[in-house]
Amino acid sequence: MVKVVVCGAAGGIGQPLSLLLKQSDLISHLALYDIVNAIGVAADLSHINTASKVTGHVGAGALAEALQGAHTVVIPAGVPRRPGMTRDDLFKVNASIVRDLAQACAEHCPKAFILVISNPVNSTVPIVCEVLKKANVFDPRRVFGVTTLDVVRSSRFVHEVKPQFEPHEIANRITVVGGHSGATIVPILSKINQQPHNQSISFTPEEIKTLTHRIQFGGDEVVKAKDGAGSATLSMAYAGARFTLSLLEASVRGKRGVVESTFVHLPGNPGSEWNQRFTGLDYFAQDVELGPDGVAKVLALPELSTEEQALVKIAINELKGNVTKGVKFITEPQ
Ligand code: NAD
Ligand code: LMR
Repeated sequence: MVKVVVCGAAGGIGQPLSLLLKQSDLISHLALYDIVNAIGVAADLSHINTASKVTGHVGAGALAEALQGAHTVVIPAGVPRRPGMTRDDLFKVNASIVRDLAQACAEHCPKAFILVISNPVNSTVPIVCEVLKKANVFDPRRVFGVTTLDVVRSSRFVHEVKPQFEPHEIANRITVVGGHSGATIVPILSKINQQPHNQSISFTPEEIKTLTHRIQFGGDEVVKAKDGAGSATLSMAYAGARFTLSLLEASVRGKRGVVESTFVHLPGNPGSEWNQRFTGLDYFAQDVELGPDGVAKVLALPELSTEEQALVKIAINELKGNVTKGVKFITEPQ
C-alpha cells in the first residue's frame, strides 16, 4: 500500500500534479485534500483506468482521514504570487497554512515523507521541520523542499542556447543549489555533463550570465505572463511529479542512484557535513541521493567556478534571513 496525499489538490498545481500522479503504478491510493472542491477533482480522476484508488477530502475536519497511513504528503497549498510580489510576500498567508498541515502530519502520519511546494520554500521548509521537532517526530531525511522546477527550467533553457543538447539528456545533469527564490537559486552551469556521451557543455561568459539570470527569475517570467492569474502551475506540476516519483522509485521500488536537487535540513542528514561547513547554514538545496528512508546521502557541492562562488555567497546571505524567519515563526510565535 502506497498512499500519497496531495494537500491543496484542487488548486492550479494540485490538479495537474494529481493527474500526473494518477498515472503511476507505484501509488495505490491517491488522497486529495483541500479546503474546497477536492471531492469533485477526486471523482473526476477516479474514472481514469490506472491502478490507484482516489479519494477526496474537504476541510480541516477531513484532514486526519486524508493523512492516515500516508507514505508521502505533497503540499502545494497556499496562495501564489501576483505581479510585483516576491515569494517572501506570501509568508504572511502561507506560513500558517503550512504550519497547520505539518502539525496534522506530525499527529496522523509522523513517518511520512513531506514534500513542500508552497512558497516561500526557503522559509516553509524550516517551518515544517520546526513543527516536527516540537512534536518529537522529526527525521531530517524525510522533509524536502521541492526545487525541481529550477532544474527543469535549467535543462530547457540550456537546450534553447545549445540546441545540440536535448533537454531530456541534460535533465538530470544540472545541479541547482541554494534555495528557491531569485538570487538564492544558483545553477551550476560550469559542471554539466551530457549523457550518454559524457560530453561536457561549455558556455561563453555572456551565455552563463544570461542563462543564470533567466533560471533565477524564471518564476517571474510566468507570473508576468499570467498577469494576475497566478504563477507557474503546469510546469510545477510536472516538476513536482518528477520529484515525487523519483522518491517513490528509490523508497518503494528500491532503485539505486536516484539523484535530485532539493532543499533539505542539513544537520542529521547523511553526508551533509561538507555542505554545512561550506555554507554555515542548516538548510540548503543541492543534489541528494534518495533511498528507502528518503535522503540516503547529501552530495558534496561540486567544485564551483569563481562566478558561482560569488553567487553562492549572495545566496547564503539571503537564505540566512529566510530560514531564520521560518524557524522563528514556530519557536518564537508572536
Ligand atoms: P492555487 O491558489 O491555484 O491553489 C492553492 C490551493 O491551496 C487552493 O486550491 C486552495 O484552496 C488550497 N488551500 C488553501 N489553504 C489551504 C489549506 N489550509 N489546506 C489545504 N489546501 C489549502 O495556487 P497554486 O498556483 O497551486 O500555488 C500553490 C503554491 O505553490 C503557492 O504558494 C505557490 O507560490 C507555490 N509554488 C511553488 C513552486 C515551487 O517551485 N516550489 C512553483 C510554483 C508555485
Ligand atoms: C516558480 O518558481 O515558478 C514558483 O516559485 C512560483 C513563483 O512565485 O514564481
